[in-house]
Order: sequence, then C-alpha cells, then structure tokens
Amino acid sequence: MKKTNFIQKIKVAPSILAADYSHLAKDIKKVEAAGCDLLHIDVMDGHFVPNITIGPMVVKAIRKITKLPLHSHLMIENPFRYINEFIDAGSDIITVHIETVTKNEINKYKKTVNARGVKLGVSLNPATPVERILPLAGSLDWVLVMSVNPGFGGQEFIPSVIPKIKKLRGVYSCDIEVDGGVNDKNAPLLIEAGANVMAAGTYIFKAKNTKQAMEKLRR
Ligand code: DX5
Ligand code: ZN
Repeated sequence: MKKTNFIQKIKVAPSILAADYSHLAKDIKKVEAAGCDLLHIDVMDGHFVPNITIGPMVVKAIRKITKLPLHSHLMIENPFRYINEFIDAGSDIITVHIETVTKNEINKYKKTVNARGVKLGVSLNPATPVERILPLAGSLDWVLVMSVNPGFGGQEFIPSVIPKIKKLRGVYSCDIEVDGGVNDKNAPLLIEAGANVMAAGTYIFKAKNTKQAMEKLRR
C-alpha cells in the first residue's frame, strides 16, 4: 500500500457533548481561549444511535458566538435530507456515517456541499471495516474514525481502531480525526498511526487545566 507523505499540525477538536449545556457559550469560550482548532458538534437522532442531542438550531446559535471552524458530526439516519440545514446553520465540515449512506449519494452531494464552501467527509463505526471507505479515497475531504460506539460521551477507547487509522493514512491525505475516549495516553499512538485531528470531550472539558490538556494531545 502506498504511504502518502503527510506532515501536518495536530488539531484539537473539543467535543461539546461533554460541555455544560446550561453554560454552553461560556464553555466554548473557555476551549477557544485555550487554543483549540475547531469545535466538534455531536448530532444524534435517537435512531442511528440510542441518544438524542441537538439539531441545526444549536449549530446556528454556536455560529454566532465563535469564528472557530464547526464540524457537525451527524449520527443520524438520512443525513443528506438535512445537509442544507446544517450548511445554512454555519457548519464548516460535515461528516455523515458510512453506515447510513451509499457511495453514490456521497459522490452526488460532495459537489453541492463543496460548492457552498463546506467540507464533506465520512465517519465509520468501530465495527465497520475500512474497506468500506477505501474506494472513496480522493473524493472525501475528511474521515472520522470512531473509537467508541457512537451515542454517548465518556466511554472507553477501543484500541483495535489503531490499525484502521494506519490503513486509511496509507491511502488518504485528507484530515483523519479520531473520536471517542481520546486522551493524552492514547493520542501519541493515534498520531503515530496517522491521525491528525483529536476529538475529545470528557478529557478536555473535565480537565483542571484546559490549555495544558490540549497541549498534551498534540505531543
Ligand atoms: C460519541 C461522540 C463523541 C463523544 C466523545 O458518540 O461522537 O464525539 O462525545 O466524547 P469522549 O471524548 O468523552 O469519549
Ligand atoms: Zn462525535
């Protein structure tokens, strides 16, 4: 497998699922001041995953209070039905789960999403083999590798996703983000495997020193 030349700054993406939603703006300002690179926003529908979280209205509200790039991680059935709402709300990156869409849909929507200045990527569950998305290499702007089963924050990292990241980095030169149970212990292994975006909820929002916690993810 061809190894792509990949040298890029490690980005930190606080997952606001672990924020205090009664003080969301305050928590977002805290991670912004501590130097995060983008915000990771978990959208759940109670169908694709057992939990229900937020929709485009909240993304729109967040857009008003920060200039940080916003990544809407759509854990929902029929994601393309709502894609325009999430673009209108101010998302800069949108990922849809490969378990919920066809390759034809991705190829079809990629052009229209990009034409509006937004990146389109796919996420894959821990049990989904990378082979499912390898044929899409070159046609995606972003890949999100789930390292827990989607639905809830605060779960334990699943180490068997590390070889998947290595395989993906062999063929993908775009951003590869890891999401679920990410912390300062596993981040070096993820970076070594080829991931360059660390999504972390509990680890960042529960840290005593937010800036230091984020710096440790970049090492
Ligand atoms: C899980 C979400 C993750 C989660 C990460 O379904 O997609 O973004 O919030 O939270 P931690 O870092 O607590 O595992
Ligand atoms: Zn997520």
